[in-house]
Amino acid sequence: MPSLPDGQDAPLSADPRTIPLRRALPALIRDPLGALVGFAEESGGDVVRLNLGTFRPFLVSHPEHLQYVLRDRADNYVRDGRGLLWRPVRRVVGEAILVAEGEVWESSRDALQPLFTAKRAEMLVDRMAEAISEAVDEWDEPARQGRPIDTADELTRIVLRATMRVLFADRISVPDAQRISAALDTVTTSMLPRLLVPFVPYSVPVPGDRAFRAAVRTIDDVVLPIIREARARPGDGDDIISTLCRPRPDGRKPDEYQIRGDVVAMFSTATETTIALLSWLWPVLETQPEVAARLYAEVDRVVGGDRVRREHLGELRYGRMVLDEMLRLYPAGWMIPRTAVADDVLGGVRIKAGATVLVSPYVTQRMPMFWDDPDRFDPERFSPEKPRRRYRYSYFPFGGGPHQCLGQYLFLLEAQIIVSTLLSRFRFRPTEPADLTPRMGASLSPRQRLRVTLSPVQRPVAP
Ligand code: HEM
Repeated sequence: MPSLPDGQDAPLSADPRTIPLRRALPALIRDPLGALVGFAEESGGDVVRLNLGTFRPFLVSHPEHLQYVLRDRADNYVRDGRGLLWRPVRRVVGEAILVAEGEVWESSRDALQPLFTAKRAEMLVDRMAEAISEAVDEWDEPARQGRPIDTADELTRIVLRATMRVLFADRISVPDAQRISAALDTVTTSMLPRLLVPFVPYSVPVPGDRAFRAAVRTIDDVVLPIIREARARPGDGDDIISTLCRPRPDGRKPDEYQIRGDVVAMFSTATETTIALLSWLWPVLETQPEVAARLYAEVDRVVGGDRVRREHLGELRYGRMVLDEMLRLYPAGWMIPRTAVADDVLGGVRIKAGATVLVSPYVTQRMPMFWDDPDRFDPERFSPEKPRRRYRYSYFPFGGGPHQCLGQYLFLLEAQIIVSTLLSRFRFRPTEPADLTPRMGASLSPRQRLRVTLSPVQRPVAP
């Protein structure tokens, strides 16, 4: 039984358990996600330190500890946007909502929050369904020709179309959104070498730097003219760009740099996480035939040959359970790093100011301590008839506390619409066996670029 958090006055255990360098490093290089789950499990949910040479983060996996870090003492465990780890990210999004803390974060969050209420998300359902259905119409052609589609590219196109319509009021066109999305992809891959050597000054070139700069320029070429236009004529639109261009609820008048950061951060998080999570749909359908059969049966019964409507969503109960299970096993936001502001005691372990604390939905959501047979894909875990989980923070794909995901509700609606639209219109056959190995980017997506052929669902013609 791990010791529970109680702050500075708690008794200290002798030394935190530490995974030595000779074990931690090779394991993390071989299979980083598997290694993290293994370290958490062997420590029995206690806070454990990973010795990675000059970098020695604490891995926190017990739900009680997670609640303490993310919610109860969120003031002491902050997203250190100024820290070395975040430096490359800051060069893309500045002091945006996703990396900032304090007044800057609060100002952006207060401005954006009204766009993401449950009520507003519900109101967007029909518009979203229309954009998604239009995007899926483009599959009629490859389906007729028997031509395989690349699921990652196609999902990107569908999500961009829906997101630009409902969150950006089509101020960014789909081709421009595709350019930004591709550039953000380059940003993520080209910043990896910098993340590995965070102490190297920017005056010293590192591989990837040039691609990184070119990608940031592409993003600016698209985004800055749109922001300038919106600032000149802010209007009263309730899309993300108009909202960010107006004075903030606290009276602040954000400058172009701040707006650009928030726009790029919102674009990236709204699209990338959604694409990453939904990319698992095809491998899941392929490897879980019973789940697929139930899902198809539900979509056929509830949606049939219609366009998905708001009233369908409440009835797509199994679909929702499948999404919940996908978010458990493949949480797009797989790692949530925090930095301690002041010395503290967490689960009997002394945490010094400045220490890095790693919190990972992927890890806790796969620990046998908290989940039966955790590697099994089983949507029944989320059946409303099942008893409540013992710990709120044994499942936290959207984080928790003050930084809890703003787009959670919208995402769940959008994902349900996308899944049910796709399944109501097509059956899929992969061109190669589906592989469930994850790729750890900014979000967690399948490593395999799966291609599938499409067969339209045949429905009897009404008499
Ligand atoms: C699969 C879908 C998604 C997942 C798994 C996810 C996950 C997360 C997580 C774990 C956090 C917490 C980050 C932290 O504590 O440092 C977060 C924050 C956030 N998410 Fe999401 N997210 C998803 C989709 C979305 C969408 C669609 C939007 C917007 C349309 C969005 C907007 C945000 C914002 C703005 C924050 C920062 C909130 C703050 O710091 O105040 N997310 N998300």
